[in-house]
Amino acid sequence: MHLAVLASGGGSNLQAILDAIASGDLAATPALVLSDRPEAGALGRARRHGVPTAVVRPADYAGPEAFGETLLSELTRHEVDHVALAGFMRHIPAGVVAAYRHRMLNIHPSLLPAFGGKGLYGRRVHEAVLAYGVRWTGATVHLVDEEYDTGPIVLQEPVPVLPADTPETLASRVLQTEHRLYPAALRLFASGGVRVEGRNVVIAENERGAGS
Ligand code: GRF
Repeated sequence: MHLAVLASGGGSNLQAILDAIASGDLAATPALVLSDRPEAGALGRARRHGVPTAVVRPADYAGPEAFGETLLSELTRHEVDHVALAGFMRHIPAGVVAAYRHRMLNIHPSLLPAFGGKGLYGRRVHEAVLAYGVRWTGATVHLVDEEYDTGPIVLQEPVPVLPADTPETLASRVLQTEHRLYPAALRLFASGGVRVEGRNVVIAENERGAGS
């Protein structure tokens, strides 16, 4: 697996993926870390691990199509065969989704389809969870399609909401789960232990475990 990770922020999920690769838990080559923000902490983490980096800023392009073409040329240039979105705050243009259909994953900090969709990202997800009063939230790794947070689900894991939670305490509890779940989901793709049937991601019996 030649993996690209796309991140806009601090990159703690990127770090979890790099750690899983370094420890031998994930058989992948980190081929590229790409960000839409030159100041993203994820880029520093990549450089410290000797992983190639790229910055592609949507504002530098006439529209989503041109932005997508540049994304695609960076992915192709680095011989990327799988893509992990890890806190990437941009909509992926349709051409890129099509080129990496069933080979592009995203992580979302709730149990989809609850608390997902356009505008529900980052802290807003946890605010919405607390405002609604659910007892459980969680993390979801899913395949990327043309919409927001609607692609077939790969793995999910629940996380309790506690009475004293703030968006920050909840986010950090969910992140701990994300850091286990994302490498586990990528492992399924690295080992070829999954196939996609419509909306269903079917996991081979010998690969089934927590979160599936
Ligand atoms: C995570 O909560 C992820 O689920 C969401 O954005 C956050 C990224 O955090 N999509 P980090 O940059 O990986 O620390």
